[in-house]
Amino acid sequence: MIFIDACFGKPTPYTPVWMMRQAGRYLPEYMAVRKEAGDFLSLCKDYKKASEVTLQPVDILGVDAAIMFSDILVVPLEMGMELKFVKGEGPVFDTPIKCMDDLDKLSVEKAVKNLDYVYDTIKLTRDKLAADKALIGFCGAPWTIATYMIEGGGTKTYNVSKKMVYDNPQLLHAILRKVTNSLKLYLEEQIKAGVNAVQIFDSWASALEQSAYFEFGFSYINELVDYIKDKYPHIAVIVFPKGISGFLGEVDGKFDVFGVDWSTPLMSAKEILGKKYVLQGNMEPTRLYNKDAIDEGVDEILSIMRGKRHIFNLGHGILPDVPVENAKYFIKSVQEKSAKYCK
Ligand code: CP3
Repeated sequence: MIFIDACFGKPTPYTPVWMMRQAGRYLPEYMAVRKEAGDFLSLCKDYKKASEVTLQPVDILGVDAAIMFSDILVVPLEMGMELKFVKGEGPVFDTPIKCMDDLDKLSVEKAVKNLDYVYDTIKLTRDKLAADKALIGFCGAPWTIATYMIEGGGTKTYNVSKKMVYDNPQLLHAILRKVTNSLKLYLEEQIKAGVNAVQIFDSWASALEQSAYFEFGFSYINELVDYIKDKYPHIAVIVFPKGISGFLGEVDGKFDVFGVDWSTPLMSAKEILGKKYVLQGNMEPTRLYNKDAIDEGVDEILSIMRGKRHIFNLGHGILPDVPVENAKYFIKSVQEKSAKYCK
């Protein structure tokens, strides 16, 4: 699998490429299956349909890896928090965690067991996926998941969870501890079901100042990474802490790949982290609206990474209104243009 070789820094015939959020609403084929399922969560819970949409970007775009179709929030859902996705608003937890009693009602064991629809999606997908394509499992980082559990949904200011950083750090650590315990076992079950790599999404890393991020954010990611790498060294681990370009020098851990977000200059990420980690990223996702912008973005990134220690990706998720034709053009351009650097 060229994707896995690249994760471990081995030479590959071209730079492998996939896109965060590649299974999703920009694909009419996805919209059709979601409609059949009824809604987004029903789609996540129907392993046959979830597997079908996982495979769509491989068949339609020719990406080098599939990412299992699910969501980071199925973990707090199955720990016992009621979750709904509201049109135009995103995810909503009606009863956010306010105190220790609320947290005590959630169960790690229940979550790990109830998430069997995810493991079933993985098994079926790995069976159907071509042998040379990797299957990526994932989870949210404890901090990003905790913000949803505390705020009750998405937020612009993170004021409720950040208040907890300073007013009640013990409760925040207790939440992060419980989520981390669930995620260790959850990732382990994903690996047993057949994923070849796992990515930890810390989408809201940038909400915290440096000292708070390392205390409440990155330390829990590293605990997960240590747990997985100690037991399953052959599984590639990718971390994606979004928006921490100001403190890349402090980043350290046993993961294999560091995901660079689009706002971080790739050259500086390469200088600071490129020797220690394979880098993934980081084309600005809105370049996908325009083919000239795609050409320019791909050329620039390839000229920096030169086909070595690199997995091509966007610097965050693909947006729902991107033309499929442009997404195809992007994937093909990377695969073709990178080959000359890899000779
Ligand atoms: O990448 C993939 O193709 C695999 C599937 C995947 C989804 N969510 C499907 C999804 C993955 C890896 C995620 C991760 C996720 N979910 C993150 C981290 C990644 C990131 O983008 O930063 C976060 C923060 C979430 C939480 C979440 N789920 C939000 C905020 C929303 C609503 C946002 C929106 O764009 O409406 C979701 C819903 C969601 N998860 C959709 C998909 C395809 C859209 C649901 C739909 O079909 O309407």
